[in-house]
Formats: sequence, C-alpha cells, structure tokens
Amino acid sequence: MQITSVINQKGGVGKTALSVGAAAALAEQGQRVLLIDLDPQGHATTEFLGLPETPPGQPSLPMALSKMWKGSIEELAVRHPRCNVRPGGCLDVVPTAPGMFDLVRRLDQFRVPGWQLARVIQFANYEHVIIDCPPALDLLTNNALAATHGVLVPVQPDRTSIRALRLLREQVSYLEQLIGRDPITYFGLVPGLYRRPMSTYADAAMRELHGMGIPVLPHIPMGVVINESAQRGIPVTTFAPHCVQSGAFHQIAQIIEGHRRRYATPQAVPPEPQNGDEFVFEDFISDISGARSRKDSGARRGLYDLMPKRKSR
Ligand SMILES: Nc1ncnc2c1ncn2[C@@H]1O[C@H](COP(=O)(O)OP(=O)(O)OP(=O)(O)O)[C@@H](O)[C@H]1O
Ligand SMILES: [Mg+2]
Repeated sequence: MQITSVINQKGGVGKTALSVGAAAALAEQGQRVLLIDLDPQGHATTEFLGLPETPPGQPSLPMALSKMWKGSIEELAVRHPRCNVRPGGCLDVVPTAPGMFDLVRRLDQFRVPGWQLARVIQFANYEHVIIDCPPALDLLTNNALAATHGVLVPVQPDRTSIRALRLLREQVSYLEQLIGRDPITYFGLVPGLYRRPMSTYADAAMRELHGMGIPVLPHIPMGVVINESAQRGIPVTTFAPHCVQSGAFHQIAQIIEGHRRRYATPQAVPPEPQNGDEFVFEDFISDISGARSRKDSGARRGLYDLMPKRKSR
C-alpha cells in the first residue's frame, strides 16, 4: 500500500480537484483506492463526490483520530457509486464528519500528536491511499505527512505559490526531523489553474518552478468541466474521460503507481505508548465504554453515563 498526500497550505490551488482526479483515475486503472477527506471543509466528500458526511454519532474519522473509536479504517469508508472503476479496483472514501473542525484542538492533547492518522490507516487493505489535506500547515497536515510515502503539490504559476512552496519544504524537513521519519518523496508539483495561452508572467513563474529540483508533473489547465463533474458528484475522469484534465489525471495516476511498484515499503509507525508509560484519557474512556456495553446494565450503566466524556489533560 502506498500513501500519497496532496498538500499545499495555500488555499484554492486545486488540492481537492487533484486528490479526487488522481484517486478516481487510479481506480479506473484497476487499483484499489481509498481517498481520505482530511480537510475539515469536507469539499472532497460533499462538493466533488456528492457524498453525505458521516452522520453524527456514527464511527467517523475524527472519532478514530482522537481514539474515541477504535476499529478498522475500512469500517469508516463508503464506496463511491459513480466512478467507472475497472474490475478489481475500487474507489472508497473516508468522508468528512462533524467534529473535523474541532479535531486539531483534540489531537493537540496527545503527547506525540503526529502519528494518529498513520496508526489508523497502517493496516488498511488498499493499493493506494490518497489524502486530501487542508490548506494549512497544521496538525492534520502533520499527521498526513507522518503517514505518507510521498506528496503531490498542486501549484499555480505565480510568485505567491513559489513562496508557499518554499515554506512547505521547510515544514516538511522540520517535521521529518521532529518525528524522526524517513525523508518524504516529492512525487511532484502539479501546475494548474492557469489560463491558456499562458501569460509571460505565468511562463516565468513556471520556469522557476521547474528549477526547484522537484519533478514537474502533467499540468491541469483550467476548464469548466472540473466544476460540471463536481456538480454531479462524478469524478471528472468518469464524467469526461477524453478532456485534457482527465488525461492529465490518468498520467499522474500512472506516475504514482510507478512509485508504488518501485519503492513502496510499509512506513514504520512507532508503537503505541504502553500503559504505564503514559495515561491517555481517550483510551481510558474508550476502554470504559467498551466494558460498559459488554457487561453492564441498569444502575451501573447509568453511573457510567454520568462520567465526563472528555477532559483536557
Ligand atoms: N483545473 C481546474 N479548472 C477549473 N476549475 C478548477 C480546476 N481545479 C480546481 N478548480 C476549481 O477551483 C476551486 C478550488 O479548487 P480546489 O477546491 O481543488 O482547491 P483546494 O486547494 O482544494 O482548495 P482549499 O485550499 O480550499 O482546500 C474549486 O471551485 C474547483 O472546482
Ligand atoms: Mg480542498
């Protein structure tokens, strides 16, 4: 299994369009794909794929990441019904859920806050996991970076994007050292959201992007087809398989798959802190609730219900 994060702290650069396009193209090429909507805005789930968010109270991504629920990631995933998947492949989605916006604060309570997502997905049974990250260098993005084998960085050919890319590289290096993980591979920059023909200004920025020592992958030019397909909740590669954007997503999918075949080895996720090393309030509550549902009834159950659900440590 290979994990690919689509990151850029700059907003509106095409992260979600790229996550959905690349994930769907991989599935259409026969790969088993899981797309994780890690951006609390939930655009991949609701705006691009036309799926509902996980209903309140049901096991969800924020519950799994904050250890309030312990199950397999497959239990959180829903199958996307409108992707032209080749036999053997699939496009599953871990949708957004209530509680995603609050999650950064809750993750902050863990002593080592970067590894939660890696722990949740380490035993997933897919060939590719694609993570759509929020437009921030925050704890959620750090969790994606801790888990990931490689990153795709959508960029616009302009000066602010080049500065954003420099900041992003600093953050990636900092995080690698902080959590002591292997270097993250830059699968590539994906230029997009520019008009054709390209202006002289954009052309100069594009040359600068080519000089940054990161592979520059096929471009995703602007096209209304991206919004038209999203409006119907259909990946653009299924909705308009012959448009230039779908062609680019398929090429990018092949590049990601090439990395998986050549290099992907399981990411070493550090073991959970042992009981005794660290008291984790979330574990305590989760264990208590498990014990309650298995054994208790009546007055004792009522007693457990009086316990605080969460508390800062
Ligand atoms: N190639 C494209 N052509 C036309 N519109 C596009 C293209 N790619 C993305 N868009 C549109 O641009 C907007 C921003 O794209 P997208 O949501 O993918 O960016 P993002 O980086 O994920 O944004 P955020 O930082 O808010 O998560 C969306 O309305 C999307 O439909
Ligand atoms: Mg987005």
